[in-house]
Amino acid sequence: METMTKERISGLEIEMGAPPPKVDDKQMINCRSDLNQLVPIKYTWAWEKYLAGCANHWMPNEISMAADIALWKDPNGLTEDERTIIKRNLGFFSTADSLVANNLVLAVYRQITNPECRQYLLRQAFEEALHTHAYQHVIESLGMDESEIFNMYREVPAVSVKSAWSLQFTQSLSDPTFQTGTPEADQRLLRDLIAFYVVFEGIFFYVGFVQVLAMGRRNKMVGTAEQFQYILRDESMHLNFGIDVINQIKIENPSLWTEAFQTEIKGIVEEGVKLETQYAYDTMPRGILGLNAEMFSEYLKFIANRRLSQIGLTPLYENAKNPFPWMSEVLDLKKEKNFFETRVIEYQTGGTLDWDDED
Ligand SMILES: [Fe+2]
Ligand SMILES: [Fe+2]
Repeated sequence: METMTKERISGLEIEMGAPPPKVDDKQMINCRSDLNQLVPIKYTWAWEKYLAGCANHWMPNEISMAADIALWKDPNGLTEDERTIIKRNLGFFSTADSLVANNLVLAVYRQITNPECRQYLLRQAFEEALHTHAYQHVIESLGMDESEIFNMYREVPAVSVKSAWSLQFTQSLSDPTFQTGTPEADQRLLRDLIAFYVVFEGIFFYVGFVQVLAMGRRNKMVGTAEQFQYILRDESMHLNFGIDVINQIKIENPSLWTEAFQTEIKGIVEEGVKLETQYAYDTMPRGILGLNAEMFSEYLKFIANRRLSQIGLTPLYENAKNPFPWMSEVLDLKKEKNFFETRVIEYQTGGTLDWDDED
């Protein structure tokens, strides 16, 4: 009986003659409803994010890297500090998105027992593959030593520390025998979701995003900056999806959200802010491009407060301000839509025409 229940949870068994699933049977975790039937959709926010992710489709090799190649090869093109920022960020991100993808497919996907959320997780997993592709494309275009950059998270402590910190949250979930269904196990899943969506994708990416986008704003490494801008747009959707998932699990399982657990989560976010602040100091020991590490420290407190309030926790840092108001503009998908519109339309009509030609 126990084995049969497990199989039904993962949708690996067909129950002949059973009626169609009902919307009320659907749940984020520990759900017995058929996971192979997408409809009826209960969580429209998940389906809408899946559609938005598809409409935002892009490919790294469509972005011209010509200006970046010329600038990178010109001995006077960039300062040493600017080169360090580019290399360190490629070092961190080139492996970070693989860590996120592995957490999604090896740990999170099995435990989220809802087809529309899984549909988004599959889209997100593909986007993470595109992000790794984007970093590989930049590294190759600039003629960098590929193994030096990809191996940086095993050689440069400033790059490895955030990845090593995040792995502790996915390790126990990746165990094939791990299963939700007890308060401890359900909290473990919730802790993993918060560590990856809110801290890793929601805080650990942001010093690098600001640094590279700030270069683009100064007309330096514009192709790399454009790659990062597309990635930031995807990541902001991942973060918002994660927040919706976390809040929905809380609504359906209020007993998990104990005082002690809330305190623990705030501690995890606080640790994340400390690690990312350290990354800012390590990657920019001196001011650069009108930015300095103190501004990043303030910025991280500001975004951490926002993330905390989005999952229903009180802010940790009083009066934290945003020193990079231009980042909110980049993050605001509506304002940014025009920037991407041409490409999105090209994709949609291009794909349709090819299909029509075949008919
Ligand atoms: Fe990513
Ligand atoms: Fe992501």
